[in-house]
Amino acid sequence: MASLTRTFATLALCCLLLGSTNGQLSTNYYSYSCPNLFTTVKDVVASAIAKEARMGASLLRLFFHDCFVNGCDGSILLDDTPTFTGEKTAKPNNNSVRGFEVVDQIKSAVEKACPGVVSCADILAIAARDSVVILKGPTWDVKLGRRDSKTASLQNANNDIPPPTSSLSNLTSKYAAKGLSAKDMVALSGAHTIGQARCTNFRDHIYNDTNIEASFARSSLQSVCPKLTGSGDNNLAPLDTHTPTTFDNYYFKNLISKRGLLHSDQELFNGGSTDSQVKSYSSSSTAFFADFTSAMIKMGDISPLTGSNGEIRKNCRKIN
Ligand code: HEM
Repeated sequence: MASLTRTFATLALCCLLLGSTNGQLSTNYYSYSCPNLFTTVKDVVASAIAKEARMGASLLRLFFHDCFVNGCDGSILLDDTPTFTGEKTAKPNNNSVRGFEVVDQIKSAVEKACPGVVSCADILAIAARDSVVILKGPTWDVKLGRRDSKTASLQNANNDIPPPTSSLSNLTSKYAAKGLSAKDMVALSGAHTIGQARCTNFRDHIYNDTNIEASFARSSLQSVCPKLTGSGDNNLAPLDTHTPTTFDNYYFKNLISKRGLLHSDQELFNGGSTDSQVKSYSSSSTAFFADFTSAMIKMGDISPLTGSNGEIRKNCRKIN
């Protein structure tokens, strides 16, 4: 009898723990409270991408940088104030992450339709999915019900988001720390099939690494990115040299021909354990899309705030 009671108690505790982590997110979370949410978000994202295709990439990246720092809780959206330091000036974010004005536009459209209901964290999740779809990538059902943080962490942003100088084992361990596998890591890296990077992030790779195709480094990149640190640091090059505004599998094809832009990109195909996965994605966008969507859902599950934790921000840039 005592052991039966113990079993029940353990089961109940498990359910409780599951419920407080990500068990509460669901794809129909706002079906009643905000029935037009998806079209409202999509319309704003579509018009932003119509103005500038790169914005799709920027919105996708915002979701990644949100989720990797204390979970998907909208913390990256908080502005610094004289008494509050957010994540925007962290090394991976400073002068780099963009799209905050588009998030503001989405939030105000959503607030008009359903005031005080939808979190900024969920807006990021939907905007990331819509961006991928609009740029011709795969779709998936976005899980919702996250609440917004009342805090942010500059230190965790600096520590938890992997830098472009990372080795394969560094990348793998940063993802493992978030409960994501090496397989998820490779699939998610396929996001670099869209968007741009600044010279300061690929200079070392194009001048000092040997695992880069020589004519690619010289003709297209070294002219954009001068060797001298401090000159042209913010000059841009596409992460996927072939189709920078289409979500396809060219990122992986590029890696096979040693045309990865970042050192960390080329690490995924450099004679190591992830080579075979890169090869498989390079020959099958279906395989890439299937693994990318499931990894995005997994990333979106990283420690959400639910229940009475956090809040629904009125303005994504400020705590209420
Ligand atoms: C695997 C580890 C990763 C590293 C080391 C990394 C690093 C970087 C760097 C250095 C840039 C260029 C930033 C700049 O120069 O201003 C960048 C851009 C980008 N990253 Fe990643 N990233 C990683 C994973 C991801 C993931 C998981 C996603 C999304 C699922 C993502 C989406 C993007 C996108 C879309 C851009 C282009 C953004 C734009 O054009 O505004 N990255 N990343």
